[in-house]
Amino acid sequence: MTEGSALIRGLEGVVAAQTELCDLDGANGRLAYRGYDIDELARQATFEEVAYVLWHGDLPKPGQLDQFTVGLIAARELPRDVVQAFRLTPRTTDPMRVLQATVAMLGMHDPDATDNSKPANLRKAARLMSQMATAICAHHRVRGGLEPVAPAADLGHAANFLHMLTGQRPAAAAVKAFDASLTLYAEHEMNASTFTTRVITSTQSDMHSAVAGGVGAIKGPLHGGAGEAVMRTLFEIGEVDNVDKFADEALATKRRLMGFGHRVYKAGDPRAAILLGLAEAACRESGQFKWFQMAVKLHKRIGDAKGLIPNVDFYSAPLFYSLGIPVDLFTPVIAAGRITGWTANIIEQHEDNRLIRPRGEYVGPKRRPYLPLGSR
Ligand code: COA
Repeated sequence: MTEGSALIRGLEGVVAAQTELCDLDGANGRLAYRGYDIDELARQATFEEVAYVLWHGDLPKPGQLDQFTVGLIAARELPRDVVQAFRLTPRTTDPMRVLQATVAMLGMHDPDATDNSKPANLRKAARLMSQMATAICAHHRVRGGLEPVAPAADLGHAANFLHMLTGQRPAAAAVKAFDASLTLYAEHEMNASTFTTRVITSTQSDMHSAVAGGVGAIKGPLHGGAGEAVMRTLFEIGEVDNVDKFADEALATKRRLMGFGHRVYKAGDPRAAILLGLAEAACRESGQFKWFQMAVKLHKRIGDAKGLIPNVDFYSAPLFYSLGIPVDLFTPVIAAGRITGWTANIIEQHEDNRLIRPRGEYVGPKRRPYLPLGSR
């Protein structure tokens, strides 16, 4: 290890890059993308506008948004081979594993695959945002023995996603809640998956390779996989009346509760506050209010007892569930939002690249001689 440098476990607090994308104020629980507060974006912007802001720097003017949207819609179709691969995939394969392989396959078909210039990366980012949504839904349909639903050119990104998933035209309230969720998941500074995409990019590898790595990183239950785990916790609790007993046991056994805690936010995750409101409305609307009530009760109990805050994945779980999203698609949906931030970070990393190559502190055996097999 380099003289004088100290091990920082989990790289906690280490600043690994300068970025113009995400302003994360952990102490005050505030978050903005390129200066736009997350609260205003979630309430007022579409996910397409958020993607534009992340990739191009400013909100689009009307003509720019129209042109951008046309490009995203044109990119929704999947190469035939990719859908064919879904048909050959074991039906029990976890959708995140399929998504990771899909991103790699999309790289095999992308005409710009190995071009790391900014124009090429902007084209690839738009294709990935559209194609990932189509792929998640198409794979889900195929694994259930159904035909994929073709993308609908008259629907925006969020509405088209829900349409491709269910085959039904979604209600306006569901579309708004889903669109806002994608915005809330779009970008989050040097989180583990984004950092992964930057590490891969720093070797001058390409966007599809970096995104496939990001998908692998976000899958884990300490990261994006937490949302799915939250819903499984709520299933385990079962009823609102069981929350106290569950919380007592969890506290007594020091159980790690998914959807609670955050490396950076200690006072509160601003995304969770917005998702709480969206989950309340969606759970009420869908007749599944008990999941929201259970979440609120658990939040209060754990917050009071341990001071732990709910993070972005806590209220998104009952929200996604009440929108009819299958539990094992929660993490793919999160990745479908984060693709915008990953790709924006990849572009930023290429613009000011230095190989990311930290050191390890060796704590293994001292130098020792090799013993031939017969002498051991
Ligand atoms: N449930 C129970 N205790 C938790 C907890 C949780 N979800 N999150 C943190 N803690 C406790 C730890 O046990 C530890 O207590 P201790 O000091 O008494 O040992 C303390 O809080 C610090 O936790 P630590 O794991 O060191 O913090 P971190 O910064 O490494 O962890 C997370 C951040 C996100 C990994 C962690 O909060 C976690 O595992 N949360 C659950 C997974 C999750 O929701 N991930 C999505 C993040 S958006």
